Amino acid sequence: MNNLKGKHIVLGITGSIAAYKACYIIRGLVKRGAEVQTVITPAGREFITPVTLSTLSSNPVITEFFSSRDGSWHSHVDLGLWADAMLVAPATASTIGKMANGIADNMLVTTYLSAKEQVFVAPAMDLDMFRHPSTQRNLDTLRAAGDIIIEPAAGELASHLIGKGRMEEPDNIILRLEEYFAQKEGDMRGKTVLITVGPTHEKIDPVRFIGNYSTGKMGMALADECMSRGAKVILIAGPVTAAPRFTPAVREDVESAEQMYQATMKYIAEADIAIMTAAVADYRPEDPVTEKIKREKKESMMLELVQNKDIAAAVGRFKQTSEKPLVTVGFALETSDGFVNAQDKLARKNLDYIVMNSLQDAGAGFGTDTNKVTIFSATDEQTFPLKSKAEVAEDIINTIVEN
Ligand code: CTP
Repeated sequence: MNNLKGKHIVLGITGSIAAYKACYIIRGLVKRGAEVQTVITPAGREFITPVTLSTLSSNPVITEFFSSRDGSWHSHVDLGLWADAMLVAPATASTIGKMANGIADNMLVTTYLSAKEQVFVAPAMDLDMFRHPSTQRNLDTLRAAGDIIIEPAAGELASHLIGKGRMEEPDNIILRLEEYFAQKEGDMRGKTVLITVGPTHEKIDPVRFIGNYSTGKMGMALADECMSRGAKVILIAGPVTAAPRFTPAVREDVESAEQMYQATMKYIAEADIAIMTAAVADYRPEDPVTEKIKREKKESMMLELVQNKDIAAAVGRFKQTSEKPLVTVGFALETSDGFVNAQDKLARKNLDYIVMNSLQDAGAGFGTDTNKVTIFSATDEQTFPLKSKAEVAEDIINTIVEN
């Protein structure tokens, strides 16, 4: 779900070299359907022209209380009321200081003081200024006032010479706004969703495994859909190449079906909804050897396989005995007799829904960005056209939420 659609965002820009990045923020917000009203400080205008900003946002840029052209009065109170959120990015030490101390000598700070909704602040300055006790005290004052300070994650800093104080990347800033609206108004708030995703790798020897072509794209799209609607996601991921945009509350990376089973059972009691998208290997080599298997002179060789646990079926059994209601969703990737097989799996694994995709449909299946699905419940079936995996995820979650 795109929870920025139709949102009113006041973007405050100050006099930092990072001001050009505000263009990317505006572009990203507008692309997601938000309406952006830019307020810039006099120092900010030294770094970026209002013409650029108004072109990107399709709105005039507010720089002063009075427009020098027509003398019209810009009301900070109106802006504060209009906004669903205010974002100050980049925020210099000077503006942060004015915000913290109520020094309302420009339109940006007066708007801040009148803002009714959440304010986000993305500091941008050099390390010494950022570390200074006065800057830190001002940031603490803003935090105490309920503002959200957006900084790059600590892990990323080590690799950056500029280090702390550098403004967070525009995409991540936008993500933080999306997370905020998800938590504030998402229709899955308070729900916990466990999702299995990706293939499993079953070891043959230290360098070889049995696997499949699953990339995890569909599962990650579902994880993002749930998080964009405010759900807490527990992601149990096989060896995937795909990644979610939002950060799951819990992520367990596993390799084999057995490990995926263990991780799923560890968290299943917390879940309100379990979605099993993983392409779990049905069999594994009985005894993976510890030494690399040599070719030697064998003309052929046999691998003895044993059956893995069925995670979805185990979740279905757990559901029968658990006191807490649990909605279970499975996937069925079929190559033939899809409808019969999917309905059979629904019953056999005690699932509430099964999402069938067929390898016979072009654009469906592993690795593609699109999918074509039919969603079965015990009493209903609904076939959807070919769509992006993000849209398919939205259809699946809508079906669950509506029921
Ligand atoms: N599944 C699982 N654990 C397994 C096998 C499958 O959790 N060991 C889940 C999948 O994540 C999917 C559903 O069960 O949600 C159906 O997977 P699929 O491989 O189609 O089902 P199988 O029971 O393996 O049936 P078959 O291979 O005979 O088609």
